[in-house]
Amino acid sequence: MFTKILVAADGSDHAFAALRAGCDLAQKYDASLHVVHVPEMAVNAIAVGAAFVEIPTSDEDILETGKPVADKVRKDAETFGVSSASVDILRGDPAETMLAYAAKNDIDLIVSGRRGLGRLTGLLLGSVSQKLAAHAPCPVLTVNPGGSHA
Ligand SMILES: Nc1ncnc2c1ncn2[C@@H]1O[C@H](COP(=O)(O)OP(=O)(O)O)[C@@H](O)[C@H]1O
Ligand SMILES: [Mg+2]
Repeated sequence: MFTKILVAADGSDHAFAALRAGCDLAQKYDASLHVVHVPEMAVNAIAVGAAFVEIPTSDEDILETGKPVADKVRKDAETFGVSSASVDILRGDPAETMLAYAAKNDIDLIVSGRRGLGRLTGLLLGSVSQKLAAHAPCPVLTVNPGGSHA
């Protein structure tokens, strides 16, 4: 049923639980595992007269920022029995970027954490997981670290 599984990784405990579930399913379904991390960069700007001009972030900065999460994902995936995961660090809006990746790569299951690094109290679902669930071209599994499967 599932042949290509995408896990959304932001370095949070929830995403760690999503990776564990994704690895488990990838092995059960003999599916390939694709992990995408979209670093959320602080906006740099300089003052030009009375205005602020945004300084575009370089691809190198994005890759460097995302590397620790990507490295940990590779290690964790191996611990969970998947050594062949593809791990991509991509630029853009996290949900939009992962949805575009899912469509382009014929992903048939997306696994994300219920919450992420934001941890706004009062929200049950984070905004990224909400957008993924609402707009994905395939089923979405939303995982929390406290679940009995975790
Ligand atoms: N920048 C990101 N790159 C990849 N996956 C992400 C990113 N941000 C969030 N996710 C995925 O979405 C889940 C929920 O995070 P999010 O919706 O951002 O909640 P919060 O508002 O608590 O940060 C995460 O556990 C992760 O699976
Ligand atoms: Mg977040």
